Amino acid sequence: METIKTLLSRRSNSQLIEPIPSAEEMELVYQAAFRAPDHSWLRPWRFIEVIGEGRNKLGEAFLNSSKKIDEIDEEKEKRILGLPMRSPMIIVVISEIVDKPNVPRIEQIQSTAAATQNILIALHDMGYAAYWRTGKYSSENNKYIANELSLNTNSEVLGYLYIGTPSKEPKEAPKLNKEDYVTKWE
Ligand SMILES: Cc1cc2nc3c(=O)[nH]c(=O)nc-3n(C[C@H](O)[C@H](O)[C@H](O)COP(=O)(O)O)c2cc1C
Repeated sequence: METIKTLLSRRSNSQLIEPIPSAEEMELVYQAAFRAPDHSWLRPWRFIEVIGEGRNKLGEAFLNSSKKIDEIDEEKEKRILGLPMRSPMIIVVISEIVDKPNVPRIEQIQSTAAATQNILIALHDMGYAAYWRTGKYSSENNKYIANELSLNTNSEVLGYLYIGTPSKEPKEAPKLNKEDYVTKWE
């Protein structure tokens, strides 16, 4: 029942500080991600782990992609460059889509999303916390971001996991009624 407890107690948390998971812990986190269901074993997931100064590079990619879409004044520029500073570690979640008739794009994205949820659960199990964000910087919302991150043209950015140690415990998750979401055929 330990797994169930971990699943039921996970909450997103945006209040994140150091320490970040160690390299040994991240090895386990990624191995958990790689156990996601994956049609035809395509391994569509790719991750960029961003820490320290790397966050400035990510901020630059956010900014450069924004400039191609919007007018960015000095104040906006400062805000965008500061976005990756909201946590000490970020994982960029990417799906590298291959052309495979029996595994449509959506299934490759679903598999990457399942891998991402495994990351969230593994981190929570280790006492860390995370927040999955897309904002204006997923490929769905921003056609320039993949190029700014130096990704292949068949890569799609699904989001950013902001990761760290919770500085404040979040409120308990609301309990949802099964009847609102589940029907039964018997
Ligand atoms: C694909 C995806 C993208 C998301 N993007 C954002 C976002 O940009 N900003 C945000 O505040 N929450 C975003 N969320 C929601 C949060 O990650 C989180 O799930 C939500 O605040 C509910 O908290 P909980 O996970 O504790 O129930 C996103 C969630 C998903 C699955």
